Amino acid sequence: MSWIRESLSLRVSESQLLCLDQTLLPHQEVWQEGTHPDQMEALIQNLQVRGAPLIGVAAVLCLGLFAQKQNPSEEEFRRQALRLRESRPTAVNLMRAIDRLLEKSSDGAAALFAEALEIFDEDVALCAAIGKNGAELIVDGEGVLTHCNTGGLATVGMGTALGVITTSFTQGKKIHVYVDETRPLLQGGRLNTWELEKAKVPYTLICDNMAGFLMSKGKVQKVIVGADRIAMNGDFANKVGTYSLAVLCKHHGIPFYTAAPATTLDPDCESGSNIPVEERAADEVRRDWAPKSAPVWNPAFDVTPAELVSGWILDKEVVSFEDVQKGRLKELV
Ligand code: MRU
Repeated sequence: MSWIRESLSLRVSESQLLCLDQTLLPHQEVWQEGTHPDQMEALIQNLQVRGAPLIGVAAVLCLGLFAQKQNPSEEEFRRQALRLRESRPTAVNLMRAIDRLLEKSSDGAAALFAEALEIFDEDVALCAAIGKNGAELIVDGEGVLTHCNTGGLATVGMGTALGVITTSFTQGKKIHVYVDETRPLLQGGRLNTWELEKAKVPYTLICDNMAGFLMSKGKVQKVIVGADRIAMNGDFANKVGTYSLAVLCKHHGIPFYTAAPATTLDPDCESGSNIPVEERAADEVRRDWAPKSAPVWNPAFDVTPAELVSGWILDKEVVSFEDVQKGRLKELV
């Protein structure tokens, strides 16, 4: 098959979209068909395709192929687009990417597919710029802790927070990465480990509840995480557990950064209290060890207030708290 775009977790041709099944990593590398919106909706909802930038890019590629292959009416195209737009509620990258396509819904299939490819290419460039900006903050010899997977699997480029880490490693800095396993679905333990091994970056895997003790031992000089939606006042949603890390950093005096592309900024969201937080199935927490009847609360994300953030590592620049307060994020959307 001749792929016209390829990333760590997506392969697209003129007629097919394949997605690396992230629920089976690190032990099995299985590619799933995501060519039709029925398939893509299930892949996104089951987290086989996951990570804020990736779900946006995967959804628009799928819609572009749907337009090319099925020649749907404009009404049918909009119906499928809105359905994918609602497949997960928190990462604004999904909504913003699909809205770009919807603006072109009357332009014809070729224009829609071309726009989807452009969104792919933009994500690659945004990730590279984030990596470059963020790596300037990392000092040789530092221990850097991260949470959830934000690398090449979660984007179509080199990643966001993990991209900052791998960029500084490639620059020759001797860093050590502490990987939160990221309960309940273990994106850190399964996916960051897989990516860091491929990149040969030294790391240590910890359970999420070990982060505080690790910090008290002086092992962590920076924490860098991703984001699923950044409000205009700097509050941001990211994988649940992020807020606890930010509070721990405050106590230990450790700089805490979020890294994200401009596509993660939500111009319509004034503060974190406006961010919709996805709640997922109870069995993701119960697994096979808790009673089947155990009552569960399973928010997939939490919201970290801006005052706990040392800097927002974006593609254009690293934004300071002072600049966020002056409204800088609005200018960078
Ligand atoms: O539920 P997930 O695995 O899609 O959550 C992903 C995260 O929270 C990531 O940190 C975020 O999407 C940034 S990915 C570059």
